[in-house]
Amino acid sequence: MRIDIITVLPELLKSPFGASILKRAIEANLVEVHFHNLRDYTSDNYKSIDDTQYGGGAGMVMMIEPIDKCISTLKSERYYNDIIYMTPDGETLKQGIANQLSLKENLIILCGHYKGVDQRVRDRFITREISIGDYVLSGGELGAAVLCDAIIRLIPGVLGNETSALTDSFQDNLLAPPIYTKPREYKGMKVPELLFSGNLPKIEKWREEQAYQRTKERRPDLLED
Ligand code: ADE
Repeated sequence: MRIDIITVLPELLKSPFGASILKRAIEANLVEVHFHNLRDYTSDNYKSIDDTQYGGGAGMVMMIEPIDKCISTLKSERYYNDIIYMTPDGETLKQGIANQLSLKENLIILCGHYKGVDQRVRDRFITREISIGDYVLSGGELGAAVLCDAIIRLIPGVLGNETSALTDSFQDNLLAPPIYTKPREYKGMKVPELLFSGNLPKIEKWREEQAYQRTKERRPDLLED
């Protein structure tokens, strides 16, 4: 998989890709991530990427020309399955979207800033608009990092134990059950006895019940889906 991220703040984006699972995935060539600074695609001396809004109103709008140049250059080099715009008015990121996108070959992610991008960018180039939640961030970069993390960990080979992504919260519309490790007892708090029984079918059944119970208490909306 290859992901091209278009941003005005590449420095803000780099650190999540330089540590832990994402770093290892890149080093193992399971994914390529490229950053493109929008200011490298401007045509004026000031490297302007935004301007005031037609019709008046507070806030700057990202201009179409640098975005067109960047996306068109990338598209002339390879086919992209999706061109994603990170925006608070996009569809809310869910596990199912990450699952779908993890199967794609090439993705572009455009990070918005200020008031957002000229509508013509969305009309002409964007195939999918994604929000990471109902709150407004200063820009799309942190959202893009969240989206990439959710996608990349699903690529086969990225997680050591292939089954571990399948047992994540949300994969069955259920939250994950409680988990325990050593010590068996800590300050009087005990690990449930059943987990030492060696009875794997019973343990599995207990985990399913716990997952269901937790989901019912915390996220009943997931059970309605
Ligand atoms: N840009 C600003 N707010 C955002 C959000 N909630 N999700 C994705 N991109 C954003």
